[in-house]
Amino acid sequence: MNSLTKHRYDTISMSLHWLAAIAVVAAFALGPGDFGRLADSGVDPGTRLDIVAHESIGLFVFLLTAVRLVWVAVRPAPPSATGPDWSNVAAVAVRIVLWILLLATPVTALLTLAGDGRPLTLLAGLRLDAIPLVGRWALTQWTDWGEVHTFLGDAILWIAGLHAAAALVHHFIWRDNVLKSMLPRRRA
Ligand code: HEM
Repeated sequence: MNSLTKHRYDTISMSLHWLAAIAVVAAFALGPGDFGRLADSGVDPGTRLDIVAHESIGLFVFLLTAVRLVWVAVRPAPPSATGPDWSNVAAVAVRIVLWILLLATPVTALLTLAGDGRPLTLLAGLRLDAIPLVGRWALTQWTDWGEVHTFLGDAILWIAGLHAAAALVHHFIWRDNVLKSMLPRRRA
């Protein structure tokens, strides 16, 4: 690695980061607010493109997060922190919360479906009428996981928004390299 690349994340980290950002916003935008009412009235969720896309993109977020965590463990060293100490501590705390939400939001969705006995319906006609393992956990009946999932789904967007706002403060007010470190280099 040369001295210039140390100011930026590696290409794989950047690609996974922006793919995750797009997928989370898409999953949020497609969140099926009327899911319970529809399912209770006998509508098959597999016939609703918004629900099928939401569940597929949400599961993709989970798998992508698992891949990202593996990459974080083996990738080249990321750029070192440059801001004041308090902002570096805050940045790490926000990132930890985001990692937890990226895993917990899809897991609570599976608990919702398993607890209510609803199918998992995915793009390309993929479907699981009973979710293996999760369906048998006592945890599935512990609470209304639909409410928890909706709360976490909203929270992830708020926290990601805070994370994005902080990157803009770094760029436009502190005028440092933090935002650029996650952006591809401009061609000369
Ligand atoms: C990071 C990924 C995800 C995000 C950000 C997210 C976000 C949301 C949000 C905001 C809602 C509430 C919509 C509203 O009330 O208007 C919702 C509902 C729902 N989501 Fe997700 N979701 C994600 C992943 C998943 C996955 C993986 C599945 C299925 C396996 C899923 C299934 C559902 C279901 C069934 C509901 C309705 C819950 C209920 O009303 O009981 N979601 N989601």
